[in-house]
Order: sequence, then structure tokens, then C-alpha cells
Amino acid sequence: MRVTTAEAVSLLANSSPVAIPTETVWGLAARADDEEGIERIFAIKNRPPSNPLIVHINSKSCLSAYVKELPDEAFPLIDAFWPGGLTLVLPVKENAFPDIARAGLPTAAFRMPDHETALELIERTGPLVAPSANKSGRPSATLPEHIEEDFGVDFPILHSTIPCRHGIESTILIWRAPKWCLGRFGAISPSAIEGVLGYAPPHFSDDRPLCPGQMFRHYAPQASLFLGTTWDPSAGHTFDGVIGFSDRSYAHAKSILHLGPSSEPETCMFRLYALLRELDQRGFQSVFVDIDLPSSTHWQALLDRLKRASNQSESFHVPQGNRLP
Ligand code: TXA
Ligand code: MG
Repeated sequence: MRVTTAEAVSLLANSSPVAIPTETVWGLAARADDEEGIERIFAIKNRPPSNPLIVHINSKSCLSAYVKELPDEAFPLIDAFWPGGLTLVLPVKENAFPDIARAGLPTAAFRMPDHETALELIERTGPLVAPSANKSGRPSATLPEHIEEDFGVDFPILHSTIPCRHGIESTILIWRAPKWCLGRFGAISPSAIEGVLGYAPPHFSDDRPLCPGQMFRHYAPQASLFLGTTWDPSAGHTFDGVIGFSDRSYAHAKSILHLGPSSEPETCMFRLYALLRELDQRGFQSVFVDIDLPSSTHWQALLDRLKRASNQSESFHVPQGNRLP
């Protein structure tokens, strides 16, 4: 059910979550100061309480109201990428947000979405927490139809004429003085971030699972995905379909789903989640995914999501036939 901004404001004031558009993927919003609304989000999504939420703000300057120490190293990133698909994890003041939003952590994740409809809403409600608008573990929603698929046609969805652009979640950087660490690949490429920071942020690692979005199986369809660079049909492996590129041919494939041209990582990324959902709609059980890709950092986010969706942990380059059951 589509709702206006005014209706969304009043639903949110009554602790009822509303799906909101952003330039990355659709979000499921509650007011960041509303414990009851946030609890509902966790319940509706079936999200583990250990997985904290991103706080969405509508101005760069309001960050200082919540953050304990804003490191100088945050400013070049904020100037370069906000509004936009970069989330920054920073230590926050005590009681800045309900504990449940932060999963009890001393930090919180912030971003300023580059989406006029979302910014207008936040202007009227104050900061909003918004995880991606999908059931936990499912591919994120890039179209309103995906939200209806997961939460039903009566779920309130903020009306907007502006679509999602990236089709993948924000990139997450975690501040660990004296450096930023990469918590999640996403809409902003590592090379763009390196261009601003002057170094490639190392992958975040810690004994504690501080960024549960990095937990393994995620963004997953029902079908088993087999990632590979080569597929030899004569080896006797059969698949219900192939996810591949529109400028390549896949002889013997029963069914082909095109991400886009292999020269356009952004186009392919934008289509990925919709294709993963389509596999379920068509009842596919096993699907081969062509990941014969250039090593450019622009493909890293797509590969990361495919890896999580397929439950294949290491090494993409498995010798021909080897990875197929
Ligand atoms: O593009 C996006 O980021 C979308 C749109 C709606 O803004 N949101 C999104 O939210 O992807 P979600 O909840 O699906 O992913 C949030 C990620 C999780 O991986 C979570 O673990 C991480 O942010 N996160 C949140 N707070 C954190 C914190 N304090 N420390 C480390 N990671 C944190
Ligand atoms: Mg998510």
C-alpha cells in the first residue's frame, strides 16, 4: 500500500514501520528514538537482535549531536560521499539511541541517503533507522514489488517517483583509530574510497562479530548457486538456469538470466537482487553463475554478494567442473 509523506510521518509517530526508498536499496524505517518502532522492525524482518541498524540522517552537521568524538579523518569522506552510499561507524554518546538499535554496541552506523523523498521524510521525523526492506537472509528490495513479496501488499510503502539507483547496499567503513576499516563492500567502490583516504581500508576483523552483516549466508535465494568461471556441460552437470552476461553466449543452458553487459558492473549490480528473487519465483533449484570477471574493484561488491548468496566461502577460481556437484 502506497502512503504519502504525511501518512508516513504519522505512521512512524505511532511506531508503525514504513518502507522508504533510498538510492541504494529500499529501507524499513522507524524513528531512531523510538524503541517500540525499532523492536517492531526486528520482529517483522525476523532479524537477530545482534545485528545493529544504520541511522539515516538528513544533514552532515547533525552527526555531531550523536557522535562521541568525530575524528578529523571523517570529514574528507563525508565531503566526498554524503549524501550517498557510504555508511560510517563511529563511537556514539551514551543514550544517543536506544540500545536495541545499536545491538548494545558503543558505536552506531550513520549515513545520509542521496534520495530526495527519504531526505524530505527525515526532515519531518528526525533520524530514521532503516535496515534493508527484506526478510532477514533474503535479497534486499530494489523495487516496491520486492517489499510486497516479503511483507504483503498491505505493508505501507512511501510513495516516490525516484527509483533506487545502485541496487546494492551502502559501503560500510568502521573507524578504528588511526584508520578506517572496510566493514562491507557496497555502492561506493574501494578504489573511490582509496582515492579520498590515500590508502585502501583494510578489512575489518575482530574476534567479536561487530558487523554481523558480514556473517556468511545472506542475500540468498532458495536455489543453490554454483559460482564458476567455466562450465562444461559434457561433464554431466545440469542446472535449471544460468546467470550470466548479455554479451556472452551460454550454449546448452536451459534458461539464461542476464545481469547485463560484462563491461557494466553498475548495471549488473543493479539487476542482481531482482534476478535472485526471480529464481525463486520460477522455482529454480540449482543455477550456475558466470563469475569470469575482470579483477577491477568495481566488481568486488557484486562478487561479495554472490559469494554470500551461494554459501561458497573461499576462492572463486575453481578448476573446470570441480565445484559442481
Ligand atoms: O544501503 C544501505 O545501507 C541500506 C539502506 C536502506 O540504507 N541499509 C542496509 O541496512 O543495508 P542493513 O540493516 O541491511 O545493513 C546494516 C549493516 C549490517 O551489516 C550491520 O551489521 C551494520 O550495518 N552495522 C550497523 N551498525 C553497526 C555498528 N555499530 N558496527 C558495525 N556494523 C554495524
Ligand atoms: Mg540487509
